[in-house]
Amino acid sequence: MTGFNRRTAVATLGALAMLSAVPALAQDYPTRAITIIVPFAAGGPTDVVTRLVSEHMSKTLGQPIVVENVVGAGGTTGATRAARATNDGYTLIMGHVGTHAASVALYPKLAYDPRTDFEPIALINGAAIVVAAKKDLPPKDFKEFVAYLKANEAKLNQAHAGVGAVSYITCELLNGIVGIKPVGVPFQGTGPAMNALVAGQVDYMCDQITNVVPQVNGGTIKAYAVAIPERSASLPDTPTSAEGGLPSYQASAWNALFAPKGTPKAIVEKLNAAAAKALDDEKVIARMKELGNDIPKPEQRKSEALGKLVKDEVEKWGKFLKPVG
Ligand code: MLT
Repeated sequence: MTGFNRRTAVATLGALAMLSAVPALAQDYPTRAITIIVPFAAGGPTDVVTRLVSEHMSKTLGQPIVVENVVGAGGTTGATRAARATNDGYTLIMGHVGTHAASVALYPKLAYDPRTDFEPIALINGAAIVVAAKKDLPPKDFKEFVAYLKANEAKLNQAHAGVGAVSYITCELLNGIVGIKPVGVPFQGTGPAMNALVAGQVDYMCDQITNVVPQVNGGTIKAYAVAIPERSASLPDTPTSAEGGLPSYQASAWNALFAPKGTPKAIVEKLNAAAAKALDDEKVIARMKELGNDIPKPEQRKSEALGKLVKDEVEKWGKFLKPVG
């Protein structure tokens, strides 16, 4: 065999080995720890749900799952990091309606497009928005609270987790309906924001029910209204926004797992199956329901369904939100 032929043969064998490796890589996946980026501070609703679900997924996948909190810019810093990560299935992100929908309208130069720069894996939860306030805010109920907002607009501090966060966009909705522009106080997540609310350093916040339930149960804050049509079983004494005279204020969040674009389909399918298994686990279900979360139905857990949800939500929030800055 001539030198040329030998080189060609070696190159061909090398290429064939590489090609045959791809299915094997996906077949053996995961062979090491997986990182899930949470684009907000530890202790907030996105973080809590991620740790709960990923603990079960880790058992199914047989590898550790490390939660990495990458904060800033309403979650878009972490989402950008995830979009640029190697698409080998070892870096994922728990995004939500803020990072993977509303931020498209708010950030004209957003460094990623949630519709094309990610592989949707699975929808993880639905979480109603609760209007929460510091314990000693004077209004006795939601009706009085709305009047108080109008009368004290210039003095009020509203906490949120950065432009584009769920707590930002859902209070933008409330403030728009009420017709006020309070001072926004940004935090790296509604975990730290809730600490400030409990301490009375800020006046109110629109937060995912996940984060509000433990505080209401502990008597550390007030929950004026839940922005969904029916009361939540996890907050039975908290009226709906409609009961409080503001039926137009309807707001819920969703959290979902994504991988960088180009992550092999077989890996996405394996992750989707592990997420679905976690959502069928009775302990996971019990804890999520205790925190007021809605568990996606099987047909809502499909990756394709999440891809459609992202597209629909980008359009929905784009109608209401305008670029910031
Ligand atoms: C948000 O406001 O987007 C999230 O609730 C923040 C968080 O999970 O900390």
